[in-house]
Amino acid sequence: MERVRGAGAVLAVLVVLGAPPAAGEELSGVFQEIGKSECHFINGTERVRYVDRYIYNREQYVHFDSDVGVYVGDTPYGEIQARYWNSLQEWMEHKRGQVDNYCRPNYEGSTPFIVNRRVPPSVSISLVPSSSQPGPGRLLCSVMDFYPAPVQVRWFQDGQELPEHMVVTDVVPNGDWSCQVLVLLESPPRREVTYSCQVEHVSLEHPLSRHWEMPPDTVRSKILVGVGGFVLGLVFLALGLGFYLWEKIKGGSSA
Ligand SMILES: *[C@@H]1O[C@H](CO)[C@@H](O)[C@H](O)[C@H]1NC(C)=O
Repeated sequence: MERVRGAGAVLAVLVVLGAPPAAGEELSGVFQEIGKSECHFINGTERVRYVDRYIYNREQYVHFDSDVGVYVGDTPYGEIQARYWNSLQEWMEHKRGQVDNYCRPNYEGSTPFIVNRRVPPSVSISLVPSSSQPGPGRLLCSVMDFYPAPVQVRWFQDGQELPEHMVVTDVVPNGDWSCQVLVLLESPPRREVTYSCQVEHVSLEHPLSRHWEMPPDTVRSKILVGVGGFVLGLVFLALGLGFYLWEKIKGGSSA
């Protein structure tokens, strides 16, 4: 089972301005109170932890952790608040029930589109110029816009895996429930070698492969085209000459 650690949270942010801001007037202060309700899912709903946090001006002052079962103050003021909330029997029963009444139902309800979300990557190989070294550059495999994050990318050279000599970025979350990762080969590509980038991901039934070969040298291909044209010209010249001579001989013999 995969490990899902979600913070399904009701986030309430309250910003109180010191004075109603009039046009062109400086704010006398910003006071911010945040209440956060977090659900931590460890191995699905096998182990669930509920954490309720209260933060004033970026400082957490009191929190409830379902593993502990009571409010705990993080500052002297928070200790006063914790003592008060812990004395409210109904409030505490409600808080202790949040794992089963709030977290678990949310997990079940959002499973189809969060836990089971699968987006296959788009994979491409490109030749990027190397800034530090001259030459043809380096091969980059771009694995884009997949979900969830776990992914395996391998480089192959003529079917042989290249387990080393790669530079891998972290899997980058794009912030829109998709991720990307880039894998660069350290050594420059060689001629007449096929390079493959192979991606394995939970969204794919089979590994996805892209292949790359050095395009033919343009100077050499131009020479080849020139030589080919010249040979073709010679063939037509020989044919034309042969036809002409044949006609001439035939004409001469009949006259
Ligand atoms: C995850 O939970 C399942 C039951 O839901 C259990 O069989 C499995 O051993 C657990 N895996 C881990 C790594 O704890």
